[in-house]
Amino acid sequence: MHRPRRNRQTPVIRAMVRETTLAAADLILPMFLHEDLVDTPILSMPGVTRWSLESLVREAGAAHALGIPAIVLFPKIEEDLKSPQAGESFNDDGLVPRAIRALKAAHPTLCVITDVALDPYNSDGHDGIVRKNARGELIILNDETVEVLCQQAVCHARAGADIVAPSDMMDGRVAAIRNALDAEDFTDVLILSYTAKYASALYGPFRGALDSAPKDGDKKTYQMDPANSREAIRETLLDEAEGADMLMVKPAGLYLDVIARVRDTSTLPVAAYQVSGEYLMLKSAAAGGWLDERDIVLESLLAIKRAGASMILTYFATQAAQWLKED
Ligand code: PBG
Repeated sequence: MHRPRRNRQTPVIRAMVRETTLAAADLILPMFLHEDLVDTPILSMPGVTRWSLESLVREAGAAHALGIPAIVLFPKIEEDLKSPQAGESFNDDGLVPRAIRALKAAHPTLCVITDVALDPYNSDGHDGIVRKNARGELIILNDETVEVLCQQAVCHARAGADIVAPSDMMDGRVAAIRNALDAEDFTDVLILSYTAKYASALYGPFRGALDSAPKDGDKKTYQMDPANSREAIRETLLDEAEGADMLMVKPAGLYLDVIARVRDTSTLPVAAYQVSGEYLMLKSAAAGGWLDERDIVLESLLAIKRAGASMILTYFATQAAQWLKED
């Protein structure tokens, strides 16, 4: 008789045969920041804070001390700095470049990743530059947007960013950003491409955190249709050919099949983003006493890893690293 249970009988044997492990080194912490001097709890994401510059540096240091290698910056930009052309997105004295400089000065070994997209800076709330065509329809201008994204990526690199992560889903942006970085001598700056970013309902709480929801229309002409996974392969092959160093699938938990397909298609490292709506679902079930927070969070992260992600962006990063340390 076959007895698979023999391999499950004790903690020691289970540890020996375990196929997937989760470590703080796998986790990347997305962090919100703003110009204010006080920290603000984010109402749409209980337990998550929008930090002042000073607190950001302190909290990033605390996460790094727990073994978290990297953070991603998400700025809330003042309303009067937003414009249709999103010029603030490549201001060398803007919030993000100042944050990068402060973080690298305080924590030289912390890997600083920046989000490259126009939505926090664009008065229209879209990831690209918006125009109304002759029929009055909303058009997201691809190539004009890519030019601004290149300036934004170079601006972040100049400030000291280790990795730039275009999250906009415009066509051709990875190759264009690679060329722009290389032309400015930033050949060592990595590109983590949001390869398969879906037009998901799970981003709602994030847009609340940054006041960055589109004013008009939705993001379905650039973010992917949740019904498609072969299309993720197409995006993977293009990003690889265009020179991406790392690929990302987003969201994570509802897209484990896509993570697995991207993993099998490419030899590049794959990241996955457990987004704000995923955070909120787990957090609220735990707050209601319905699920055990520690168990469900660690299981959700382990599942993302098992599917093929080597890096996981998660708002639970610091808490999970603490739990893993206690184990
Ligand atoms: C925007 C961006 C979004 C997220 C990360 N970068 C929102 C969007 O595409 O509308 C979402 C992250 C989350 O929900 O946690 N470029």
